[in-house]
Amino acid sequence: RTGLITYDPGFNNTGSCKSAITFMDGENGVLRYRGIPVEQLAEKSTFVETAYLLINGRLPEQKELTRFSVLLNDHSMVHEDMRTFFENFPRGAHPMGILSAMVNALRFFYPQLEGLSETEELDIIVTRLISKVRTMAAMSYKISLGHKVVYPKPDLCYCANFLNMMFDSPVKPYNLDPDFIRALNVLWILHGDHEQNCSTSAVRLVGSARVNLYASISAGISALWGRLHGGANQAVIRMMEEIHAAGGDVKPFVARARDKNDNFRLMGFGHSVYKTYDPRAKIIKKMADTVQAKLDKSDPLLDIARELEEVALKDPYFIDHNLYPNVDFYSGIVMRAMGIPTEMFTVMFAIGRLPGWIAQWKECFDSPRWKLSRPRQIYIGNNVRDYTPIEART
Ligand code: SDX
Repeated sequence: RTGLITYDPGFNNTGSCKSAITFMDGENGVLRYRGIPVEQLAEKSTFVETAYLLINGRLPEQKELTRFSVLLNDHSMVHEDMRTFFENFPRGAHPMGILSAMVNALRFFYPQLEGLSETEELDIIVTRLISKVRTMAAMSYKISLGHKVVYPKPDLCYCANFLNMMFDSPVKPYNLDPDFIRALNVLWILHGDHEQNCSTSAVRLVGSARVNLYASISAGISALWGRLHGGANQAVIRMMEEIHAAGGDVKPFVARARDKNDNFRLMGFGHSVYKTYDPRAKIIKKMADTVQAKLDKSDPLLDIARELEEVALKDPYFIDHNLYPNVDFYSGIVMRAMGIPTEMFTVMFAIGRLPGWIAQWKECFDSPRWKLSRPRQIYIGNNVRDYTPIEART
């Protein structure tokens, strides 16, 4: 173990913890990875470089970035026996359920990764995971269609390889569009980490019991699946499709979101930490215009999203509750433009969040003071009372 960490990264009994990875200011809409504003990374970095930054705490030198990219390429294939595993999932199985199961299963197909004794080995384990999760996501999509699996290519970068594995076909070669490759880099950079959100806290909590990295990440994937968390990007598109099908008028839906008797929430709006515009949403909204321009016809859902935002941000209920668009509000529009199927949206979120989960898990693993997390509670149940025999119960 590196023992680099001197502070206790474990959760205290109020559920908070110390971390040096991501800084968020919810009042002012600030997000920084290892001190670098996410806006600068989205403009100047790549997803692979940002993943290195999150995991290692600094930007890589050229030789380090080259080595990281070579390792990602070397470990981009998936064990052929895993295909049998994939092919036996029911066709309608949700990709997030498949991904969570497959990441957990990785440890059985690569037992040599079980050990976490050396930092060098941890680098290999981490790189394998980041590379294989991308391949497994594309593989599960192809298999779900009954199409031929496309293998990664050594001459393509991380994001280009993913798009090619998703959409290339022997009868219709995929045309790699530089704007889509850039958009995917930015999308995954923006999903990289987000301090102690639900799924990241799950990774740290499960990891604190000293389970291996794969099982901890599998727990994070399951938490992200929830429609209030990472599943929201899929729920946003479903909501926009419902508005489109109802004629496109957004006002009734904004009214429903205000109605306490209606369990309806405006998906993609509101945030537990941001009480202003999510800085990621600002960048993704701009990107939506770029990718839309590549399409032959504009996506009606983008017009609906823009009108929904305009109406909601003027609505007193949304103003009073500090409800603004979050990362999920426009991300689905961008992914639709790239041809990503809606059921894969949360998997896309998971691939982007993987470096953050690994960095957060590693922060604990690197600390000699890492101990089992054990949050406490405030008991509000019955006072002490005696057992009542069943015949005396009324
Ligand atoms: C992600 O934590 C992270 O960092 C997560 C994430 C990450 O990168 O990991 O950012 C990713 O999960 C983004 C959020 C995606 N989820 C959605 O878009 C689903 C819709 N949003 C809401 O469910 C809600 O905004 C939450 C869950 C995201 C946040 O809710 P809060 O602010 O923690 O607390 P709350 O649910 O109690 O809401 C407070 C009030 C309530 O009204 P009151 O009972 O006080 O009158 O705000 C209302 C809520 O009803 N409210 C909404 C609303 N979101 C909150 N009302 C209508 N529509 C909404 N979207």
